Amino acid sequence: MIIEVRDLRHSFGKKEVLKALTFEIEKGQCVAVMGASGGGKTTLLRILAGLLRPSSGEVTVLEVNLARANEDALDSVRKRMGIVFQSGALFDYLNVFENVVFALRRRKRHTLAELKQRAAECLAMVGLDGTETLMPSELSGGMRKRVSVARALATEPELLFYDEPTSGLDPVTAYSMDALIREVNEKTGATSIIVSHDLHSVLRVADRVLFLYEGEIIADQPPLEFRENPDPRIQEIVQKAEAEQLAQAGG
Ligand SMILES: Nc1ncnc2c1ncn2[C@@H]1O[C@H](COP(=O)(O)OP(=O)(O)OP(=O)(O)O)[C@@H](O)[C@H]1O
Ligand SMILES: [Mg+2]
Repeated sequence: MIIEVRDLRHSFGKKEVLKALTFEIEKGQCVAVMGASGGGKTTLLRILAGLLRPSSGEVTVLEVNLARANEDALDSVRKRMGIVFQSGALFDYLNVFENVVFALRRRKRHTLAELKQRAAECLAMVGLDGTETLMPSELSGGMRKRVSVARALATEPELLFYDEPTSGLDPVTAYSMDALIREVNEKTGATSIIVSHDLHSVLRVADRVLFLYEGEIIADQPPLEFRENPDPRIQEIVQKAEAEQLAQAGG
C-alpha cells in the first residue's frame, strides 16, 4: 500500500472537516476524490501531501506516518511526490524550462546539460517538445496545465496529486488532459490521486472513486459502479454532469 489512512480526523477550529476516514490506496492506482464543494477534498489532499498535519488518526504515505513524522522526515517524503496545483501555478517570471526544473534544481546539484535533458524528457512526455524558451504568458490554458504536469514529473515522483486538473478547460482540452493523466500513470507507474468534480473526466481517468460528503467517504468504488450508485447525494452530481453533457452536445 502506498497510502494507509486510519481514522483520520481534521478540524479547523470547532468545525470538523474530515470525520474518521479510513482507506488504503495501492501502488500504481489512479484514484479520484470527488465530492460537493466544501466536502473536504482539498483538505484531504493537503494532508496526504504532507502539507497539513491531521488533527488525529494515522496517515501513512510511502511508509512514513505523516501524523507523527518530524520535519526532516516530512520533507523527504514530500520530495517523493509531485503536485499539479489547481491554477497551474507556474512562475510567470520564469520560462518553461526554468519552471520545469525548478524543484530539481533545489534538491540536488545537476549540470545544465542534465537539467536540459530532464526538461526535454518531461516536456516530451506531456507533448510540449521544444517549448523551453516560451514564457507562461505565451501559453494557452491547456499548455500551462501540461507544463505543470511536466514540472511535477521532473523529480520522478512515486505519488502524483492533481487538484482539479480539468477545471477551467474547454471540453476538448479537458479530454486531452485526461488522456495525459492516464498516459503519465501508465508510463511512470506513479500512483495518481485526482481531486475533481468533473464526472466525465473521472469516468475516463480513474480506477476508483472516493466520494467525500461533509467529511465522510460515502462511496468507494470503480467509476462505472459509482455512476450507478443510487445514493441521492451521488445521483445529484451524476445527473448534473449528464445534463451538462447534453447541453454541450446540443450547443
Ligand atoms: N484553512 C482553513 N481554515 C478554516 N476552514 C477551512 C480551511 N480550509 C478549509 N476550511 C473549511 O473546510 C471545509 C472543507 O474545505 P475544503 O477546501 O477541503 O473543501 P473542498 O471539498 O476542497 O471544496 P471545493 O470543492 O470548494 O474546493 C470548508 O467548510 C472550508 O471552509
Ligand atoms: Mg478544493
